[in-house]
Amino acid sequence: MSEDDSHPSHATPPQTDPDREGRHVSGAPWRNFYGRFKGKTLKPNQERYLDEDLPRLSPGPVGWEENPRREPLDLERVFGNRDIWLEIGFGGGEHLVHQAERNPDVGIIGAEPYINGIAMLLGKLRQSEAANVRVHPGDARDLMDVIPAATVSRAFLLYPDPWPKARHHRRRFVTQDHLAPLARVLKPGAIFRVATDIPDYVRQTLEEVPKAGFEWLADGPQDWRQPWQDWISTRYEQKALREGRRPHYLTFRRSG
Ligand SMILES: C[S@@+](CC[C@H](N)C(=O)[O-])C[C@H]1O[C@@H](n2cnc3c(N)ncnc32)[C@H](O)[C@@H]1O
Repeated sequence: MSEDDSHPSHATPPQTDPDREGRHVSGAPWRNFYGRFKGKTLKPNQERYLDEDLPRLSPGPVGWEENPRREPLDLERVFGNRDIWLEIGFGGGEHLVHQAERNPDVGIIGAEPYINGIAMLLGKLRQSEAANVRVHPGDARDLMDVIPAATVSRAFLLYPDPWPKARHHRRRFVTQDHLAPLARVLKPGAIFRVATDIPDYVRQTLEEVPKAGFEWLADGPQDWRQPWQDWISTRYEQKALREGRRPHYLTFRRSG
C-alpha cells in the first residue's frame, strides 16, 4: 500500500474531478483544500492509534458519504449538557489536550485534516486522563455544516496557514466562506480566539472577522501582545518564535 492511500477513510483528499455542478460525487459542495493531508510516514503505533481510537472519538456522522443529508450532530448525546468548544486546525494537538485537561466540564471538538497531526493528538490523548475530546479528521467546514446552530461557546483558530502571497489570501481561514459557518455555530456572546505570527494575517483578521458578526475585545496593545492566561504554546508558535516572528493574540466575541 502506498503512503498516500494507507488511510483513505480518515482524511480523504478531495477528488480532482468535480462533476458539472461543481460537486463531489458524494453530493458534497466542491471545497478546495490546499493544505497537506499527509507528511512523513506514520509509525506503526500511530497507525494503530488511528485505527483503534478515531472511531470511538468521532463526534457523529460528519462526512458526506456517511451523512449525505447533512443531519445535525446530536451533541447532547455526545457531551450531555456540557459547554462545547471547537478547535480548528489543531496541528499536533498540544493546545487541544491542554484545554481538555484544564476544563473537564467542557466538551472539545477538534478538526484537522493532516493525518500526522491527528496521530500526534491521539498519542497525547493516550497519555492523558482527558475524556472530553472528539475528533473530526478532516476539513472544519464539513464539521461546521453539521454542528447545530448556536451550540458552540468557544472557538480557537491558532496559527492558521498563513498563505503569504496576495493571490492566495482568499485561501485563508479568515474569509467569509469560513467565517459565516463559524458564526452560525457559535452562541451569541461566544468567544473566538485567533493567534497568528503574520502581520498581514492580523490585518485580514481584523477586517474580516467583524464583518461576520464579531466584536474585537481589545482595549490596548497588551490585549494582543500577551498570551491568554490559560495559554500553552503550540508547535507552530515555537517555530515562529525561533524564526523571530512575533505572536499576536486576538480575542473576539460573537455579537448577538
Ligand atoms: C500552521 S498549522 C498550525 C497548527 C497548530 N494550530 C499549531 O499552532 O501548531 C495550521 C493547521 O491548520 C490545518 N487546517 C488548514 N485548513 C483547515 C481546515 N479547513 N479545517 C481544519 N484544519 C485546517 C492544517 O492542516 C494545519 O495543521
